[in-house]
Amino acid sequence: MKKLIKLFTPKFDSKEITAATKALKSSQWASGAGTGKVLEFEKKFKKYVGSDECVAVNSGTAALHLAINILNIKDKEVLVPALTFISTVHSIVYNGGKPIFVDVIPETMCIDPSDMEAKISSKTKAVIPVHFGGLPCDMNRIRNICRKNNLYFITDAAHACGAQYSNKKIGTEAEMVCFSYHPVKNLAMPKGGAITINGKNKRKIKNKLNSLRWCGIDNRKNSFYDITSLGYNYYMDEISAAIGIEQLKKINMHNNIRKKIAKRYNSEIDAIEKMPFNNNCSYHLYWLRVKNRNQFIKNMFLNKIEVGTHYKVAHMMSYYKSKAKLPISEKISNEIVTLPLHPSLTNDNLDFIIKTVNSFLE
Ligand SMILES: Cc1ncc(COP(=O)(O)O)c(C=O)c1O
Repeated sequence: MKKLIKLFTPKFDSKEITAATKALKSSQWASGAGTGKVLEFEKKFKKYVGSDECVAVNSGTAALHLAINILNIKDKEVLVPALTFISTVHSIVYNGGKPIFVDVIPETMCIDPSDMEAKISSKTKAVIPVHFGGLPCDMNRIRNICRKNNLYFITDAAHACGAQYSNKKIGTEAEMVCFSYHPVKNLAMPKGGAITINGKNKRKIKNKLNSLRWCGIDNRKNSFYDITSLGYNYYMDEISAAIGIEQLKKINMHNNIRKKIAKRYNSEIDAIEKMPFNNNCSYHLYWLRVKNRNQFIKNMFLNKIEVGTHYKVAHMMSYYKSKAKLPISEKISNEIVTLPLHPSLTNDNLDFIIKTVNSFLE
């Protein structure tokens, strides 16, 4: 029987297996203080992206929750694209803020700076742009709007590990940048995430995040400590960090394969609306838009090709049900299809995916 071509799958070999086994055998599986492999990962990741600091946590959701916690957004508004994974939005609500949904630019699916600017009110405190699919947002425009209106910005780089903007790595574009190392992400761990930190407040923010990720523990001396905030149990474990260190060594190689795949999709898929090719993108996702989506998805699965629908817009989820009108995001949400994209795809897989996609486009 023909095997399903998966939408995502982590790529690993004996290096990750050896590193994980070693971490298991050490019996030091985790430490809230973030020593051992976690510390090594943080040092290596901040060097890779070129950020001032890095704090590792146990998911991208935790990274967003803690980074926004630093801002004190209680009863304030935070601008966020509705076209994103729900954690971007939840992290505002976890911290007592109100998400204000913003539309996206159809060519990039990143937050629309004009709509963002139009939605600024006296209650707006911050913006969370998402580098959708790994394609960097228009950071220069976003930064200018934020400066002009005295707004803070934290970026959601869950898709953008290894992506670049203005000759710099994503991870340096804001005071705090949030990454996910979920198993389907470009840098995969069993569970992981991180916040990279930049600028003059780096030490203060790092210390605060270190405490927040470990239940608010602070001023620790041996077994004595104080609790200075309502922290969380969000620290990264040693097995994930050991795997992450090996994944980090391969991130450029894996991202180059992702780019080659995206280049083929972009030039050979006949859809009119499809993700552009951009050398700065990390290609966590590759999207196209189809009119006959339900039938298209059915046909792809009948041909053993797994596809995704990233994302149903947040403001139409039952929990958020908002009156926001976001015509572009809503239309995209009904038409978007994401194609298999990971470094284990073979040329035969790609030939078959492209041929099959083209045969079912209307
Ligand atoms: C855009 C975006 N933000 C945040 C997250 C949350 O990351 P995690 O699953 O590691 O909590 C994800 C994960 O899918 C994501 O795609």
